[in-house]
Amino acid sequence: MPKLDKRKYKFDTLCVHAGHDVLETKTISPPIYQSVAYPYESAEYAAKLFRYEIEGHMYGRMDNPTNAIFEERLAALELTDKSLATSSGMSAIFIACLQLMNKGDGFLSPSKIYGGSNKLFSETFPKMGFKAKFISNPENIENWSEAISSETKFLYVETPSNPNLFVADIPALAKLAHENDLPLIVDNTVATPVLQQPVKLGADIIVHSATKYLSGNSTCISGVVAGSSEYIDELREKDYRNVGPALSPFNSWLLLLGMETLSLRMKKHCENTQVFAEFLEDHSKIESVHYPGLKSHPQHELAKKQLSGFSSLLSFVTKGKLLDAVNVIDAFKLIIHTGHLGTTKTLATHPAFTTHQQLTQEERLAIAIPDTMIRMSIGIEDIDDLIEDMDQALSKIG
Ligand SMILES: Cc1ncc(COP(=O)(O)O)c(C=O)c1O
Repeated sequence: MPKLDKRKYKFDTLCVHAGHDVLETKTISPPIYQSVAYPYESAEYAAKLFRYEIEGHMYGRMDNPTNAIFEERLAALELTDKSLATSSGMSAIFIACLQLMNKGDGFLSPSKIYGGSNKLFSETFPKMGFKAKFISNPENIENWSEAISSETKFLYVETPSNPNLFVADIPALAKLAHENDLPLIVDNTVATPVLQQPVKLGADIIVHSATKYLSGNSTCISGVVAGSSEYIDELREKDYRNVGPALSPFNSWLLLLGMETLSLRMKKHCENTQVFAEFLEDHSKIESVHYPGLKSHPQHELAKKQLSGFSSLLSFVTKGKLLDAVNVIDAFKLIIHTGHLGTTKTLATHPAFTTHQQLTQEERLAIAIPDTMIRMSIGIEDIDDLIEDMDQALSKIG
């Protein structure tokens, strides 16, 4: 029973098996290679390995056999040649972009992205001479087209985005990118490959915070970059090796366990969240709800075309003032208040106080994050219990 042939098996089978050769490893659960180095069988073997002429394991900062199983599985699910495991979602985004730029180069991204990515692009990258140009109305492809210049080295989107749930038109952006000989990077954290395979829609490079749905149980900070063999090999040989954002093998193992149930979890996440979003939309204490599965979402039609489900991230704006949103957050009994998403448990956070606290109020408003916005990641619990908890918390709004 050799390694699985990716072309032969369907998605749910690959979630459970891809990358893991049970006979070769003599295990049915992937082995953890908790070792920073690997013996070279001869001087000639070592020389070839270090010249990247043969496949093998060099040193734990560059590669690891447990990580290799995770990398192969993720690449199979994302329809890319290869992938590279990283220590966090942020380090995945950092090296994915770094690989494509030299000092003075730039790229385009919507401003409506995860706060940490926004800060990486607007605070850290300028120190390195990289220029992010933020597109404020990213639904309009013309705005992207007009912003492309000789400095632009790639287009970047996060879709659906955290916490605004903006849905980017991946095929239109891929077309624009390719007409200009540029790659398109997609942060696929929120959708996961279960609901959206950006490569099928034309994207070139995929990044994930694997910390979220891929792991699924809130056990490990982790990330991954997926793309062509040429891109991933060069990344591993240069910037990944030089910067050192390697994933620990134990965390790879946790990810592999999580990914076995990815499809099952995403199905339940989507079912629960649709019911929860509709409950919120009808509630008298709620101003607005953002969820791509609702007809009221501005990109609902696009989301239906691009996604096979709408995932479990939603945000809503309460009626009243900042204190009303704070009272709701503090009243939860079952729902957990924390700055995380994509896990089995239902979580809520107040972006103005937490994830987007690094931005000024003006910057937050510019990306449509009012002080009364609450972001939720709906888990896989019984939906009746979740609605009951939400209902009692909303009763605290004056
Ligand atoms: C869409 C998205 N991308 C990237 C990240 C960063 O991931 P990590 O926390 O694993 O570094 C996050 C974190 O919340 C996120 O939501």
